[in-house]
Amino acid sequence: MALLNILNYPDKRLHKVAKPVTEVNDRIRRLVADMAETMYAAPGVGLAATQVDVHERVIVIDVSETHDELLVLINPEIVWSSDERKLSEEGCLSVPGIYDNVERAEKVRVRALNEKGETFELDCEGLLAVCVQHEMDHLMGRVFVEYLSPLKQTRIKSKMKKLAHAM
Ligand code: NI
Repeated sequence: MALLNILNYPDKRLHKVAKPVTEVNDRIRRLVADMAETMYAAPGVGLAATQVDVHERVIVIDVSETHDELLVLINPEIVWSSDERKLSEEGCLSVPGIYDNVERAEKVRVRALNEKGETFELDCEGLLAVCVQHEMDHLMGRVFVEYLSPLKQTRIKSKMKKLAHAM
């Protein structure tokens, strides 16, 4: 296993659209293992392959308090989402130190493949629903700060550039 480098906003590679995984093989399982290790080390509750510059539809999530309930979503699709929407504070490993409110569907049902290549469906609410939608946005090349006002986005971009220069 290996720690992967996480791209930081406003890196253009975060805007690439991920392609579907054609076969869940050992290469994908290695990617999943490396992504999980990277997410836990960060630490974070979710990571999309896009964030480690791999443009395939793979997500890892763990919203448990004990950090031992890894959820792997390969080729995820939202098959149902609630009309009720909810505002909640989000952060992102690609935008360190920035937290802001984003409105999303309160509940979603997601269909995906697991690391064995088996299809499953999962009903999500609370933090898990937020996380699934946030990570699926990454696969479409969208970062959560793009839901914020243009003024906030400009401020965040300049803050991130300063941070990059300081490192
Ligand atoms: Ni993120």
